[in-house]
Amino acid sequence: KPKIILDTDPGGDDSFALLWLLSLVKQGFVELVAVTTVDGNVHARYTFVGASKILKLAGFPLIEVGKGVIGGSENDLEDARGIHGGDGMGNLSHTLPEIDVNYEDAVYSDDILIEKLKANPGEIVVIAIAPLTNLASAERKCPGILKKAKEIIIMGGAFKVPGNIKPEAEFNIAYDVEAAATVFSSRDDIVVIPIDVTQKLVFTNEMAEQISQINPESEISKFIISLCKFMTKTALAFRETQGKQGFLVHDAATLAYLFYPETLLFRRAEVMIETKGEWTKGKTLFDSRNKTKFGANTWVAMEVDSVNLLAVMMEDLKVLICD
Ligand code: BDR
Ligand code: CA
Repeated sequence: KPKIILDTDPGGDDSFALLWLLSLVKQGFVELVAVTTVDGNVHARYTFVGASKILKLAGFPLIEVGKGVIGGSENDLEDARGIHGGDGMGNLSHTLPEIDVNYEDAVYSDDILIEKLKANPGEIVVIAIAPLTNLASAERKCPGILKKAKEIIIMGGAFKVPGNIKPEAEFNIAYDVEAAATVFSSRDDIVVIPIDVTQKLVFTNEMAEQISQINPESEISKFIISLCKFMTKTALAFRETQGKQGFLVHDAATLAYLFYPETLLFRRAEVMIETKGEWTKGKTLFDSRNKTKFGANTWVAMEVDSVNLLAVMMEDLKVLICD
């Protein structure tokens, strides 16, 4: 049974990824060791509260949540509250259960990563669906610590498609470029799922309605429906969602790699992060010759079977919703 740490900045699509992961925990397929939150879509304070509330909503209030390291680099990007809502959760945070943990007393996410990876060498899969500030901070404090993870799976980057936050750059990488560069040079088997493939994952209002049929009165059903509606409005609905009323569940693709590998196709490459550049800062470069600097360091997802990926995600979410 894999052990996972999820590094996240909820975030509408982060919330879906976390709920999906909890459905896999509920089915006994995986152990969620901790959730490390980070500054990104919204301020670290809100991502901490958001993740904690989802854990409580889904019946896992005891899973440890770390708070994000702030100021990983001279970040020149705005956060993404325009897409995810001021609280990162479609402004629905107040509808979720009150939490018993508080931000001020929480342990920093980088310290949790260091502690858990040291205690379980070679056992923990780190899934990072947010700017890489926490992971990089752990590596800087304790060089070599990321090598102690069983695997590192990242949602981020834009290779053959335009960026989603800058002409050439994807949000999670561009938000903290130095952190991304640190993480990509920390080992030679990073797994990355870029927007090239995640832009095909449109989760629709119809799908939300469909899964909630299993238990319409459940608070999780209501949250999923409302969040989907909110995200559908703020996403560039229709234009970036193939004419559907839905939004892109980028972050969920990381779980497909672990649990439904038949839905993704990868290629080995040397990936570099552009850390400077007037227009290209945050760009991810793909060299399949593996000769630019260090040699191959990454597995990059190139194709996705989006129909099957969304179908298995829906089936799993139903398990979480039904009592
Ligand atoms: C990534 O950026 C964030 O806004 C999403 O949560 C996702 O992790 C997509 O580029
Ligand atoms: Ca995210």
